[in-house]
Amino acid sequence: MSRIFNFSAGPAMLPAEVLARAADELTDWHGTGMSVMEMSHRGKEFISIYEEAERDLRELLAIRAAYKVLFLQGGATLQFAQVPMNLLRGKDKADYVVTGEWSKKAVKEAKKYCDAAIVATSEDRGFTYAPKSFSLREKTAYVHYCSNETIGGVEYHEVPKVPSEVPLVADMSSHFLSRPVDVSKFGLIYAGAQKNAGPAGLTFVIVREDLIGNATKGTPSVMDYKAQADADSMLNTPSTYAMYIAGLVFKWLKQLGGLASIEQKNIEKARLLYDYIDASAFYQNPVAKEDRSRMNVPFTLRDAKLDEEFLKGAAKQGMVQLKGHRSVGGMRASIYNAMPIEGVRALVEYMREFEKRHG
Ligand SMILES: Cc1ncc(COP(=O)(O)O)c(C=O)c1O
Repeated sequence: MSRIFNFSAGPAMLPAEVLARAADELTDWHGTGMSVMEMSHRGKEFISIYEEAERDLRELLAIRAAYKVLFLQGGATLQFAQVPMNLLRGKDKADYVVTGEWSKKAVKEAKKYCDAAIVATSEDRGFTYAPKSFSLREKTAYVHYCSNETIGGVEYHEVPKVPSEVPLVADMSSHFLSRPVDVSKFGLIYAGAQKNAGPAGLTFVIVREDLIGNATKGTPSVMDYKAQADADSMLNTPSTYAMYIAGLVFKWLKQLGGLASIEQKNIEKARLLYDYIDASAFYQNPVAKEDRSRMNVPFTLRDAKLDEEFLKGAAKQGMVQLKGHRSVGGMRASIYNAMPIEGVRALVEYMREFEKRHG
């Protein structure tokens, strides 16, 4: 199998072992003579795939029974609307922390449904840090933040403290399953699968059971968490193949030793790259050191005129998708769970060699 190092922010690299197993099972899953893609979502074969995936996800994150685990569609973007539709519970206010482009989009969408206010933001310094304390408004229904901003590369390394009566809601899309998380601190966690956990088209929602069942009038049934929970995420035909692949990714993570083990690998990869950037006068990362993302590492070259040449040279050596997001420019290396350390070493080596030529 010939594989390149794909530094895309998402859809992103999947573990080679997972792809190989999926290829192996593509046309005939476990002697059924069918591909998972061809199975009824109500049939016993697919139900066993779904149940095992949920069990493994619960085990990886130590999710207690008081939480529902939902496998939904519509991406994290739909959650920007679905969260207020479900969690306002008769209230009209929700508080938002804005640390980058994604949380900015989340609050903008929530404003369609309620009085959504920004209670803390790092926009004053170009989204280069994560505010740690926020004073919430009285009678707020929940507080929402993005625990890893994919574009700016800003990650919360601690769960922010909020009063226990206010549900904490997190968009974990771009660092889901990259480290252990104490789920019990959250009212709701959501994440698109296409970065760390599987193909696009699947969204995970982990929600405390007592918060659901009060969706705003007019909420479509497929967007009502309670209706989806009662239907085991199969109120309509779910994203079956994506769920199967996610299940294989969960197994891969378990075999590696779980989230504490993948976290160590992620720390090592991120350190390698940041240490090199910090030691160089040619590359720069603008994020406060304590808030730097282990998953998404944006960096600029001393002279933006060299960007094109940098990207072309990297592609020639089998390293792709390093172009930064159009809103910030420069480069961005997304080094999710499936990126092997060899990929990060190859990138650092290339950066060093490029700097020598141009520095
Ligand atoms: C942190 C974060 N939130 C939300 C989204 C939107 O996800 P989707 O495209 O699945 O709707 C993304 C996509 O990159 C993201 O990185």
